[in-house]
Amino acid sequence: MQNIFDNEIFFDGYSKIHERKDNANELFVKPALFSLLPSLTGLSVIDLGCGFGEHCMEYVRKGAAKVVGIDISEKMLAVAKTKNNHPKITYLHMPMEEISCIKEKFDVVVSSLAIHYVEDYQTVVHGVHELLNDGGVFVFSQVHPMNTSFSSGDRWTRDENGRKLHANIANYGVEKEWESTWIVDHVKKYHRMFSTIINTLINNDFTIEKIVEPIPTADFLQMHPEYDDLLHKPDFLLVKTKKG
Ligand SMILES: C[S@@+](CC[C@H](N)C(=O)[O-])C[C@H]1O[C@@H](n2cnc3c(N)ncnc32)[C@H](O)[C@@H]1O
Repeated sequence: MQNIFDNEIFFDGYSKIHERKDNANELFVKPALFSLLPSLTGLSVIDLGCGFGEHCMEYVRKGAAKVVGIDISEKMLAVAKTKNNHPKITYLHMPMEEISCIKEKFDVVVSSLAIHYVEDYQTVVHGVHELLNDGGVFVFSQVHPMNTSFSSGDRWTRDENGRKLHANIANYGVEKEWESTWIVDHVKKYHRMFSTIINTLINNDFTIEKIVEPIPTADFLQMHPEYDDLLHKPDFLLVKTKKG
């Protein structure tokens, strides 16, 4: 299993991006993710790949009775335990591929921008099903599969002024480990087709309730024109499912 967030250079670079309030996670993923959650009042929640624990803290603010955050990275969890410590939150150092070891049940399982780092998606989906109470909700975000199917070289075809005309998508249909340079070289993500992502959920007794591919509105683009390339291809995919 890859644990890139414990690589010192990667961790420092990621922390700097994270501090910027105009990063894509803040602007697109978080609002979409939180909009998909049910009312959390009195519920138990587990966050797979909780990182700095900010979402765990938000779930407490939203009324959750109990929150567990798990992560494979000691460095991310060290920040979570310092900055987002709360009596209702427990942080566990473990990979999400091993969630079937957790014997208690939860009302809500959430995972944000972590599942694309997992090779064995089927095991995680099966484990999530075991973790959930009947009728429980599983909401996750991940890098959009169109974003893990670039060829090498420039990701965009541009006009003579450098404007992006279209994304250079290639090998969308080849499911595989996908290495890219993001902060450091050789960051591994796992490319799965949209149909695989959704059908694995259906085959594990989940009902799909909503799918979101966040793109900017015209008003948003007035303030952040740099995000207009999302109209060519979404960067993120969010799925809300229910057990049973
Ligand atoms: C991009 S960060 C997202 C953190 C947080 N969920 C958020 O949205 O701000 C991805 C997190 O997933 C964790 N992660 C990656 N692979 C994992 C695995 N197999 N099991 C558990 N956590 C994992 C990383 O260590 C990192 O903290």
